[in-house]
Amino acid sequence: MATEFKALLVEQPEKKVFNRSIVTRSLDDLPEGELVVKVYYSSLNFKDALSATGNPGVTRNFPHTPGIDAAGEVVSCADGSFQPGDQVIVTSYDLGMETDGGFGQMIRVPSKWAVKLPDGLTLKESMMLGTAGITAALSVQELIESGVKPEYGPILVTGATGGVGSLAVAMLGKAGYKVTAVTGKMDQEDYLKGLGADTVISRETLMTGGERPMLKTTWAGVVDCVGGDMLAVAIKSTKYGGAVTCCGLVGSPDLNVNVFPFILRGVRLIGIDSAECPMDKRISVWKRMADQLKPAGLEEMVDEVGLDGLEEKIQGMLKAQLKRKVLVNLQD
Ligand SMILES: NC(=O)c1ccc[n+]([C@@H]2O[C@H](COP(=O)([O-])OP(=O)(O)OC[C@H]3O[C@@H](n4cnc5c(N)ncnc54)[C@H](OP(=O)(O)O)[C@@H]3O)[C@@H](O)[C@H]2O)c1
Repeated sequence: MATEFKALLVEQPEKKVFNRSIVTRSLDDLPEGELVVKVYYSSLNFKDALSATGNPGVTRNFPHTPGIDAAGEVVSCADGSFQPGDQVIVTSYDLGMETDGGFGQMIRVPSKWAVKLPDGLTLKESMMLGTAGITAALSVQELIESGVKPEYGPILVTGATGGVGSLAVAMLGKAGYKVTAVTGKMDQEDYLKGLGADTVISRETLMTGGERPMLKTTWAGVVDCVGGDMLAVAIKSTKYGGAVTCCGLVGSPDLNVNVFPFILRGVRLIGIDSAECPMDKRISVWKRMADQLKPAGLEEMVDEVGLDGLEEKIQGMLKAQLKRKVLVNLQD
């Protein structure tokens, strides 16, 4: 078995200084775990950009290889729960946070973190979806289970060109909902409509007059990836009995909203967590994506890069400049 592999390594030579480079690492550098996986694909998530730049809320111990998503082939599994050659997906838990992650060609993790690649998805497609796909699918599933039906009105998606947002737009469109996508990149209107958005609006349009305690009811449901004032406006403009999912904080982790939408309109606010999502739910979400929610034009929704293309994408993500989700190809 080859024990050396390439990886993006983040090092901290001094306080608040984080250097990133592509290095050769060894299996001996990886943490304990039953399962060794040769990683073929990963994807870039907002959390990875934070880890790669030393955000202590994600990663405190360096040197470190980020990457909360990985898909590849089992090399060995000490507890026999997988066989060599099995195709598996590993996402979240601690992967890429304090455990060396998918921006390396090998990972070693607890076997209970891995999901067998479901029928209907290739390894590459699984990482075009990745944690962003799980999060979008969990959000869509929560709206459906909350009884929000397509005929009740439009669904608002915030952060629409982002990884979670773009997949939510496409999955909601596929599930028959009319989607209003809100974006900071109005030059991406055609792209978002191509994914399935019925209407595309700017952040400014959404936020105009948003400081009022209650707003005109507009949305049957909301998939929010932004948090902060945008989430508050979304909640205040959700229709009677509607549901709002909350997964992200790119705008702000704070939420300043009064109780009126909840006590006068019965609006429900639903938290989404993909990181510690229980394994049975995780397996069913992957199956649902493979069988029903996988967007038709998945290839066109991603930019594919190798390890050497990651730096530019990490910087672009932190500046909210990326126009496509990033797929990372780790094959030589
Ligand atoms: N809860 C979970 O399990 C879970 C899982 C995955 C991700 N997340 C979180 O979900 C959020 C989105 O993740 P992602 O990977 O999709 O990130 P991403 O690809 O960077 O997308 C975020 C998008 O939000 C918009 N945006 C960025 N900064 C903004 C700001 N200051 N105000 C308003 N909009 C802004 C941009 O889209 P537009 O230009 O189109 O507006 C950007 O493309 C992150 O906070 C991430 O940590 C949570």
